[in-house]
Amino acid sequence: MPRRPPKKSAAPTAEEVVIDALGPQGDGIHKSAGGPIYVERALPGDTVIAQVQRSGGALRGELTQIITPSPDRIEAPCPSYNVCGGCTLQHANADLYRGWKIEIVRTALGKVGLEPKTWLEPTYLEAGTRRRVTFAAFKSGKAVTLGYFRRRSHQVAEINACLVAEPGIMDLRQRLGPLLVPLLQGGKPADVFIQSVNGLYDVVITGAVGATGVPDFKIYDAATTLVQTAKVSRISWRASENDDAEVLLEASPIHAVFGALRVPLPPLAFLQPTALGERALVEAVMSALPATGKFADLFAGCGTFSGPMLERGTVDAFENSAPAIQALNKARAAKPLNPIRRDLFRNPLLADEFKKYDAVVFDPPRAGAAEQVKTLALSKVARVVGVSCNPNTFARDARVLVDGGYALDSVKVVDQFTWSHHVELVAVFTKAKK
Ligand SMILES: C[S@@+](CC[C@H](N)C(=O)[O-])C[C@H]1O[C@@H](n2cnc3c(N)ncnc32)[C@H](O)[C@@H]1O
Repeated sequence: MPRRPPKKSAAPTAEEVVIDALGPQGDGIHKSAGGPIYVERALPGDTVIAQVQRSGGALRGELTQIITPSPDRIEAPCPSYNVCGGCTLQHANADLYRGWKIEIVRTALGKVGLEPKTWLEPTYLEAGTRRRVTFAAFKSGKAVTLGYFRRRSHQVAEINACLVAEPGIMDLRQRLGPLLVPLLQGGKPADVFIQSVNGLYDVVITGAVGATGVPDFKIYDAATTLVQTAKVSRISWRASENDDAEVLLEASPIHAVFGALRVPLPPLAFLQPTALGERALVEAVMSALPATGKFADLFAGCGTFSGPMLERGTVDAFENSAPAIQALNKARAAKPLNPIRRDLFRNPLLADEFKKYDAVVFDPPRAGAAEQVKTLALSKVARVVGVSCNPNTFARDARVLVDGGYALDSVKVVDQFTWSHHVELVAVFTKAKK
């Protein structure tokens, strides 16, 4: 659903402003007497003309001219940068960009009064490594536009170049356009998710298809042509984001390998957005765990961490997604893995249930693990490793663990969301035995 645009004040006024800071969303900030003015795509050290307007309770400036560029300003490398709403910060040099990513995490922790004992060496990934991409799709007449939303708009812009995605995904996007024409409904928004797994492509369409909105024999025919022509391994469909995906055609099964586990992935399976990021996260998690023991992997997904953890002992993998649990059950064979379907928001593990574990890993969705950390904080588990893609909810949860007697030993930033304001981290907490 398109978001309602924020309420704007009467007319914008042109102002010349010096940018003082970079905000967590990547906006340049001018600290004016009337409050901060947020200017999209401006950098500290820039002097710019901006059309300033109150919007959604804040002062926002639309950059119309750069009078004096910041010494940290560079030419954005992507040809789609001015159209596309995907990337936030391609116009800053590497030093500014990298420092900003750490600062986002440091600021979030600082707001709750926390600072880790050690900041571990961050990992920054190259662009062109994103293996999961969702394209907005729109069919008009006999053409399908497959792109991203334009900046500050709900219109789909055809994006032929994206430097963030794996090049193979962009090549596939090119081949998919005409093949989607018989599948999608004209004038109806849809999206097309592509996940690349070890050289295989998994595609999921979300939205109305065919004449009736749901698959009929013509849709299965068109799906077969798409799979054969575009060299896709599997194509699935779901009516809306709230539905499970239904496989239309699977030419070859798709597996991910996580340490000791070879997991048959269901459509839309969660994978870390880049393979290299996954490797950095796994290394950071594993280096914090004891050499042997009994482990709990909370919010386990399809086993990104459970697989490698199995090489050190037994693993209880807690996860709410039925397809993910099913996939783990298929993969476990005789391994000491116990996949458990459990909603950890509504039914978190109790403090007593943690007694049997030597270490716990938790990797919640962006909302964090508010309910689960309340009981985890009361437990006596010696070592807890948190993985998070949201520094704000992570900081909130970390505060609860620290208030429960845990020390925040280290934080490592893994920047696998290149050029965006998103950031991933691994944090290690320890509790001394009383
Ligand atoms: C960020 S992903 C991490 C998955 C896995 N650790 C990985 O790295 O691949 C978060 C996981 O939490 C699961 N999840 C979301 N809400 C949940 C809930 N209420 N209870 C348990 N698991 C949940 C999602 O299905 C998803 O697999």
